Amino acid sequence: MALSELFRLLSIMGAFLVGFWLPVRIVGYVPALPLEIFFDLLISAISAINIYLYFHDTEKDFREIKSWLHLGVILDLICFLPLSLFAFVIFNDNATAFLMLNLLSVRHVGQIKKFLDNFDSLQPLAYRLTPILMTLPLLVHMVACGWIGLGSGSSSDDTDTTLIYVKALYWSFTTLTTVGYGDITAKTIPQMLYSCCVQFVGVGVFGYILSNMAGLLARSDAAREHHMDNLDKVETFMKLHRIPADLRGRIRSYYHYMWLHKKGYHDHTLLEGLPTKIQSELFFHINQGILSQVPFLKGASHELLEELMNELKPQVFVPGEKIFKIDDPGYALYFIHEGQVEIQSRDHSRIALLNKGSFFGEMALISEKPRMATAVAVGFCDIYVLEKNLFDKVMQAHPHFHHQLQNIVQQRRAS
Ligand code: CMP
Repeated sequence: MALSELFRLLSIMGAFLVGFWLPVRIVGYVPALPLEIFFDLLISAISAINIYLYFHDTEKDFREIKSWLHLGVILDLICFLPLSLFAFVIFNDNATAFLMLNLLSVRHVGQIKKFLDNFDSLQPLAYRLTPILMTLPLLVHMVACGWIGLGSGSSSDDTDTTLIYVKALYWSFTTLTTVGYGDITAKTIPQMLYSCCVQFVGVGVFGYILSNMAGLLARSDAAREHHMDNLDKVETFMKLHRIPADLRGRIRSYYHYMWLHKKGYHDHTLLEGLPTKIQSELFFHINQGILSQVPFLKGASHELLEELMNELKPQVFVPGEKIFKIDDPGYALYFIHEGQVEIQSRDHSRIALLNKGSFFGEMALISEKPRMATAVAVGFCDIYVLEKNLFDKVMQAHPHFHHQLQNIVQQRRAS
């Protein structure tokens, strides 16, 4: 971890500590001087770190006065001053305003998200939940302390400090996350105004939590959501164009198949944004099973297989669909990844039934003659297509593959 990120972590931790400590201090707990000095130094350290991070992140020149005229830097400079000590020593602890200024340093807890950016393996769920789960207790505590400072409303008769704090926490939590239950209410004007402000903040907090939770729930099954979205669009399209019932059924079953086998995503479109090298490694990883079963490619080098896999285009054929017809010109070679393909003669009788791992369409490519049979998908078929120009390139570069393939062609012709 870079030094700046370590500093950021320290600053966030310090800001949390101060956020829990300072409100308690403001509402009346007078600590011993060493503790006061410790927290004052901590606040100054947080401010110094954040001034450093500001110049580090923005790459501004600290020698220019202009660079210091930034609101965040000015606030940090204020917090850098030993304000708690002023309040404690000079004003004999009667300067709440001084102490309140130090609360400005607590805003640095907001850097959690920036810090979490360092962890590329972090799940989106953790990325979204961590800041909420960490800052909500702090906010509730700070609001509760403010409530105690204003007299705790209708629960002001309590004398036990723990009970006062717990009731304030309860009031704070219910007012921030809902509109409160009304069992603890404001009595004085400042309390009423404070309640209004907390409720106002609460609307934002509640909305933020709710929208994040809703987002998390929706994303928890993003693939299904994506699939449903596609289905909705397709249904609207079919209705609009009055597609016949039979065709509709086939389209639906295609989407169903895509959902079951590919979770609705087409490999290539999804990964288009990746750098080419990573893409080819990824395709190699996903598709190595397809080409490794092909007899004429036995012994092919890793580089060649990787090159071939980059060029393979996935295609799905629905049951009964003709992949090509007899006498068509040969434009490509086909590898069966999933499903079965029937090779049919001119009178539609079966010449062969090819399974997962087989290939077909090589004869027309080798002989430069039209297709000698028709290829029909038996059920849904996941097929990878290698176009002729690349096939020719491979055969030119590796004549022994050409030879092996010719043997296979002869065997097929003979059968
Ligand atoms: P092609 O002639 O290009 O198109 C039809 C394909 O069917 C052919 O290539 C072969 O790949 C395949 N084929 C033809 N006869 C057989 C067979 N007997 N066994 C397996 N596949 C065959």
